[in-house]
Amino acid sequence: MPAIAAEHELTVQNLLAAFEGESNANAKYTAFAAKADADGWHGAASLLRAAARAEQIHAANHAKVIAQLGGVAKCEIHPVEVKSTLDNLKAALDGEQYEIDTMYPGFLAEATARNIPAAIRTMTGALEAEKTHARLYGEAIALLVGGKKDSWIGAARDFYVCPVCGYTSETEEEHERCPVCKCPWEKFEIVR
Ligand SMILES: [Fe+2]
Ligand SMILES: [Fe+2]
Repeated sequence: MPAIAAEHELTVQNLLAAFEGESNANAKYTAFAAKADADGWHGAASLLRAAARAEQIHAANHAKVIAQLGGVAKCEIHPVEVKSTLDNLKAALDGEQYEIDTMYPGFLAEATARNIPAAIRTMTGALEAEKTHARLYGEAIALLVGGKKDSWIGAARDFYVCPVCGYTSETEEEHERCPVCKCPWEKFEIVR
C-alpha cells in the first residue's frame, strides 16, 4: 500500500471526515425515508432516498481519491436517531447546511492551497450537490409544516440524481447536462 505523502496528509484526513459524513448521511436518509413512508409522506420519502443515493455517490468519489492519495477509506456508521418526519427533515437540512457553510469550504480551501485537483473535484461536486438537497429539504419542511399532503411531499415521485456528482433535481427536463459536472442528462438515475 502506498504511503500518504506528507503534503497530502491533511487533505486525506479531511476526505476521511467527508467520507464518514456522507456515509452516515446515507444511513440517516435511508432510515428517515422509511419513517416518512410510514407517516404517509411518500414524496418526502422519495426525496430522502434520492439524497441518500447522492451521498453514496459522494462517499464513493471521496473513497477513490483517498485511495489515490495512499489512504484507506473506512469509517464507523453510527446508529440513526429516527424522530418525526418533520424533525428528521430538519436534522437532514442542518447536516446539509453544515457541509455547505463550514465543512466543504474549509476542506476545499485546504485542498486548493495544496493544489490537489482530484480532491478539489470530488469536494466541489459534493458541495454543489448538497445545495440542491438543502433547497429541496427546505421546500419539503415548509410544505410539511403547512400540512400540504396534496403537494409533492405527499405522493411518491421521481427525482433525478447525477451518477457522477450526486446533483439532485426534481424536474426531468431541467438541463441537457448536469450543471455541476456536465454529465449528460440521459445518464441520470431516477430515484423514487
Ligand atoms: Fe446531501
Ligand atoms: Fe453531476
